[in-house]
Amino acid sequence: MLDIRIEKTTAPKELPKADNPLKFGTIFTDHMFIMNYKTGKGWHDARIVPYQPISLEPSAMVFHYGQAMFEGLKAYKAENGRVLLFRPDKNIERANKTNQRLCIPEIPAEDFLQALKTVVKTEEAWIPHKPGTSLYIRPFAIATDPFLGVRPADTYMFIIILSPVGAYYPEGLNPVKIWIEDEYVRAVRGGIGEAKTGGNYAASLKSQVKAHDEGYSQVLWLDGVERKYIEEVGAMNIFFKINGTVVTPKLNGSILPGVTRDTVIQLCKAWDLPVQERRISIEEIYEAHKNGTLEEVFGTGTAAVISPVGQLRWEQHIMKIKDGGIGEFSQKFYDTITGIQLGKLEDKFNWAVEVR
Ligand code: COI
Repeated sequence: MLDIRIEKTTAPKELPKADNPLKFGTIFTDHMFIMNYKTGKGWHDARIVPYQPISLEPSAMVFHYGQAMFEGLKAYKAENGRVLLFRPDKNIERANKTNQRLCIPEIPAEDFLQALKTVVKTEEAWIPHKPGTSLYIRPFAIATDPFLGVRPADTYMFIIILSPVGAYYPEGLNPVKIWIEDEYVRAVRGGIGEAKTGGNYAASLKSQVKAHDEGYSQVLWLDGVERKYIEEVGAMNIFFKINGTVVTPKLNGSILPGVTRDTVIQLCKAWDLPVQERRISIEEIYEAHKNGTLEEVFGTGTAAVISPVGQLRWEQHIMKIKDGGIGEFSQKFYDTITGIQLGKLEDKFNWAVEVR
């Protein structure tokens, strides 16, 4: 059990107005959680303090060698006023897998959950109510030693910041256009592709800029070796419905194990909808589109929840899906997942965790 000291702000900010569109990741709440780590001492000095800049030396190791973990999850306000987190145990487990891969000290799961609940409770008034909104939670850990040699750091900060958000994509639930990248790759097996760390996102930017310039909102990555098999979108995992079966790339070490990805797979099983995790080549998708069996394509992620895909571009081929509209199952997954997140639908899986 952490002993969390709480220092309240003396200058609370105005809460966003009900008509604020809450552009993703632009507004931050009044407080944040911080704790420090030092080799020999462990994690210590857990506190909630006013949201403010942090002070680091320019030599802090995170700036040079990228030893950094981050996570993303959301808090919701249910109609009866309860505050709900969605599957926080999965994010905590993944954070510690990332930590292991990057030689960052693990954060005990019960302490992590206590920190999440305490900071969300402190900022309860910031949880927006409108459909499609939530309080996005961004926990992260960074290496802070002032040192320029390459080795795991001895000191770290673990911070949780909170941001009231609307839709991740400006398109909202309208289908996005996705560019299939065949020049650069995001990750290779054995690398850090399955870890949630900034470097993977930095590696994606050049292609994302190229895709944006061509009018596409995201990039779909192919495998780093043969550039033939589908991996993920970077901000999302990807699903295809082909001839009645839902398929998604099997986790292979270079794909992020998404919480929403796992949620969709479990829902398919509960609904007796055939679901497969396997290798999927881009040629298979191209053929399925050509012969009319590619029924739906959608991305899954915490920020985006479910994002229908209306168009894929691979080399010179443009594949329009559902005439650019939303698929029946994309909508059903969205409605079910958000219904459970908001405490409106029965939660058979015990995915919603109440913050008291
Ligand atoms: C999330 O879905 O929470 C993520 O962390 C993706 C991020 C690029 C917004």
